[in-house]
Amino acid sequence: MPEESQRPRFSLRALREDEKALDTRASLADLETDIDYRRTFHVIGRSVLFVRYVWLRYVISFASHLARENLTIVLAPWIGKILIDHVVLGAPVEDATGYPSFLVPAIEMLEGASVGAILFWVVLCSVAGLVASLAHGYVMTLFDTRLTQSIAHLVRCRLFGGVQALPMTKLDDQPIGDSVYRVVNDTRVIPDVIGTVLIQPVSAVFAFAVALVTLQSAYSDSPVVAVFAVGALPMYVLVIVPFSRMLRRRSQAVIAAQSAFTSNIEEGMDNMLAVQALGATATERERFRKDSAESFKRIRFSGLAFDVAGTLLEIATQVMVWGFTVYVVAQVIFGGFSPGDFVVVLGYFALMREPAEKLAYLWIGLQGDAARARRVFAMLDAPPEAETGRSALPPIEAGVSFRDVGFVYPDGRRALRDVTFNARLGQILAIVGPTGAGKTTLAYLIPRYHTASEGQVLIDGHDVNDVSLESLRGQTSYVFQETQTVNESILENIRLGKPDANTEEVERAARDAGIHDFIVGTPDGYDTLLGTSTSKLSVGQKQRIGIARGLLKDSRILILDEPTAALDPETERHVVGALREAARNRIVIIIAHRLSTVALADHVVFLDDGRVMEQGTHAELMDREDGNYRRFVDLQTESVD
Ligand SMILES: Nc1ncnc2c1ncn2[C@@H]1O[C@H](COP(=O)(O)OP(=O)(O)O)[C@@H](O)[C@H]1O
Ligand SMILES: [Mg+2]
Repeated sequence: MPEESQRPRFSLRALREDEKALDTRASLADLETDIDYRRTFHVIGRSVLFVRYVWLRYVISFASHLARENLTIVLAPWIGKILIDHVVLGAPVEDATGYPSFLVPAIEMLEGASVGAILFWVVLCSVAGLVASLAHGYVMTLFDTRLTQSIAHLVRCRLFGGVQALPMTKLDDQPIGDSVYRVVNDTRVIPDVIGTVLIQPVSAVFAFAVALVTLQSAYSDSPVVAVFAVGALPMYVLVIVPFSRMLRRRSQAVIAAQSAFTSNIEEGMDNMLAVQALGATATERERFRKDSAESFKRIRFSGLAFDVAGTLLEIATQVMVWGFTVYVVAQVIFGGFSPGDFVVVLGYFALMREPAEKLAYLWIGLQGDAARARRVFAMLDAPPEAETGRSALPPIEAGVSFRDVGFVYPDGRRALRDVTFNARLGQILAIVGPTGAGKTTLAYLIPRYHTASEGQVLIDGHDVNDVSLESLRGQTSYVFQETQTVNESILENIRLGKPDANTEEVERAARDAGIHDFIVGTPDGYDTLLGTSTSKLSVGQKQRIGIARGLLKDSRILILDEPTAALDPETERHVVGALREAARNRIVIIIAHRLSTVALADHVVFLDDGRVMEQGTHAELMDREDGNYRRFVDLQTESVD
């Protein structure tokens, strides 16, 4: 039947490929998403190591939980025995046997008591135990929340620092949404893993041991009881281990889908205007709907996988419980067990089997945690921007020189070759050329946002690779092509690079950048809050904020990437005047298109296709009859005419 054959058949390979594709979309910077056992133990181990920052509080919490669990284990089953032997069956307390030594004084107190009195004491003790246990639980919840949150906080801050320190080329491959997802969601598993690995198994094993010792001292002639209970753990291990890898895969698949739609939100909000203008809101919604539906599907699938694992554990449990119950019933009928023993032995069996079951469930849970923890460490381990500098760059006194500099992007694209020029303190250097010529790439080499592939970038004779990034960037201001604002007031936005600048300094910079009058004209003035993708400001206004920022941070090198592109002629003249003034004790490097901006430069470097085609003063270059620069300028003047 044609319809039948057209229906896509389920194929594991197609599923894997599908998942790899989504992993790639989630983050190109982190593609090794498969986790084998070695990696699993590795990330779990590293997560656990975070405990060292709060170890004392962990010890307190641990001891407290342990005490509570073991008190319950030691006392609870005997209450059942007292009830059945002395209340239900009415056997006299004097003849009682089989109680552990620590209970004997309490039992002796009950000697001669009536059935009603025994019942009263049993109920009273149980209620008191319950109240104490509830109160303890409440206090511990508060204590543990603080504990886990302080670890989560620590990991989050580290990871954010790690993301910030990524080199620019790596950041290009790392969607913001995925970073957000890692910092907000993935980091939360680290304290979970610590609890899962450090507290719960240890207390489970402890509980197991206490139950075993108590039981053996009471029923030393029936080793079968202990054998049954001890056998529970290997049984669970056999059931659960074959599933582990699959569970990790399912978890990773869910995370990738969720990270992808987090990125959808971020990108959609960031480009809202473009999306609306192009009438693409429906397309964007559909993209989001698809990714969200995919995540929904994967969550169900992963939930199913975890449920199947849980069901297998449950089946194993039932097999063990029924096998053991049959054995104990036989002992009561044919052997030496009293009906009270039936309760005690079954109770202890449960107390020993449960820790084993708990360990098995912990292991299941850890598989999902490992998938998230891997993402946290992958980002923490991503090599930060290489700090190759050994010494600090002394205050700049001479200038910047490029010597045969070439640059190739990681994808193999060459953006610059054989670039050589000099810029001196007190000069304005203009870098001119068509779009895609490599102007921005060139400027990025100075504060070492990128590192030159060939040749040398020298400042006062020091190779920028040999000086510390802090000293280098502390002496450079970079006004980017697109000014990004932070979620703060205009005042804070301007003094981003010099947080201790006073209001007068900020206002002076704003005046020089031609934005002061606009700011004081707004209702809130310098206190106006800007968002990150604010539409409160025009592109030109944002650009002027950027220029003010660059002027305020009073550093020796000021680089401006097409700063006047969106300015009206009058503002441009004003800003250019301010730059001229600023260049008196600075090196101003300005990437520009406009003749009016370029003409004021002391030196012009004309770049095309990554090469310096010509350089000299504006007048010198205009004198060349068929020079590239002159043609470039003529084209502009013609288009104005
Ligand atoms: N991250 C990148 N990876 C690969 N190629 C890039 C990257 N950034 C820019 N390029 C390429 O390098 C060339 C120069 O870009 P750029 O320096 O931004 O030019 P300009 O600023 O002169 O317009 C362009 O061909 C551009 O496509
Ligand atoms: Mg550019």
